Amino acid sequence: MKIAVYSAQPYDRRFLDEARASMPGVEAAYFSDRLELDTVPLAQGCTAVCVFVNDILDAPVLEALHALGVRAVLLRCAGFNNVDLQAGARLGLFMARVPAYAPEAVAEHALALVMTLNRRTHRAYVRVREGNFALDGLLGTTLHGKTVGIVGAGQIGACAARIFHGMGCKVLVSDPAPTPQLDGVAERASLDVVLAQSDVVSLHCPLMDATRHMINSTSLARMKRGAMLVNTSRGGLIDTAAVIDALKSGQLGALAIDVYEQESTLFFQDHSSDIIADDVFQRLMTFPNVLVTGHQGFFTIEAMREIAAVTFANLACHMQGSPCANALPHT
Ligand code: NAI
Repeated sequence: MKIAVYSAQPYDRRFLDEARASMPGVEAAYFSDRLELDTVPLAQGCTAVCVFVNDILDAPVLEALHALGVRAVLLRCAGFNNVDLQAGARLGLFMARVPAYAPEAVAEHALALVMTLNRRTHRAYVRVREGNFALDGLLGTTLHGKTVGIVGAGQIGACAARIFHGMGCKVLVSDPAPTPQLDGVAERASLDVVLAQSDVVSLHCPLMDATRHMINSTSLARMKRGAMLVNTSRGGLIDTAAVIDALKSGQLGALAIDVYEQESTLFFQDHSSDIIADDVFQRLMTFPNVLVTGHQGFFTIEAMREIAAVTFANLACHMQGSPCANALPHT
């Protein structure tokens, strides 16, 4: 049995090889290329593919993989908005994900973004190294006592709620599902109330048709003037053009994102010698109150180990024909 690992970086190989050692007989071929129709032939001779957040798993790609003999799709991530579930089910593909590898890692990254932007440590770092110890421009706010709104209180959102509660913030959560795990930590509220009352709004809900561009010109206008917006979930939750307008007018006080709607052409690659053609992204880069990281919320040693272990546990379920708790819905 051989797996084609797409979008593979050296760190993926390190952790996947470590976990693969427990499965003799399973070979892996690593490709830095993203999975898309043109790169399907790389999986020649493989019966499984292993993919990440920006690989394309639409119907044509799944059909082409199936025609090549691929029978299993292993997502080494939680989100599966890039997968055509119906096509996968129709083709009888085994498709499984890693539902939670380290929710704390992503929640902690959201905190890091908030603290960096709020206390300007990214600017202070550069200044001090240049011998500039002036404080002008580094004024922040004390988060203790502020209101933090969590949109989507699942595994990651719940961790984030507990973190901000621990810092003495009032925490509001908006989630259609019940949140008994946050009793005593956070108050439930509608999205409108969360937007209107929060000094920091942190997005942790999945990207679906219902949540695409949930942050748009209308919802931005409902936010408290000068509030901070944080997105470590999926770029498509935000209408970036509307966010730029809100930053220009001062309605939005600061933006921290680990994900970006058009990230698939930028993130996980070194573009430092390239001309970046994405004018929307480049406009974001001009704001002093915008902080962007390149989808690194998950990137801790613990999470990478968990991703690799669960990926191979999912593969073992497929090979043994045993039920898999991590199988994607409808597949
Ligand atoms: P989860 O499935 O545990 O929680 C999602 C929550 O969002 C659920 O409680 C659900 O009821 C809620 N939700 C659904 N629709 C909503 C709506 N319209 N408004 C408010 N809440 C809504 O997912 P988990 O593990 O907490 O992950 C959240 C997202 O974080 C994932 O979908 C993924 O896109 C992203 N993620 C980002 C990573 C990164 O490295 N930046 C790493 C892992 C996940």
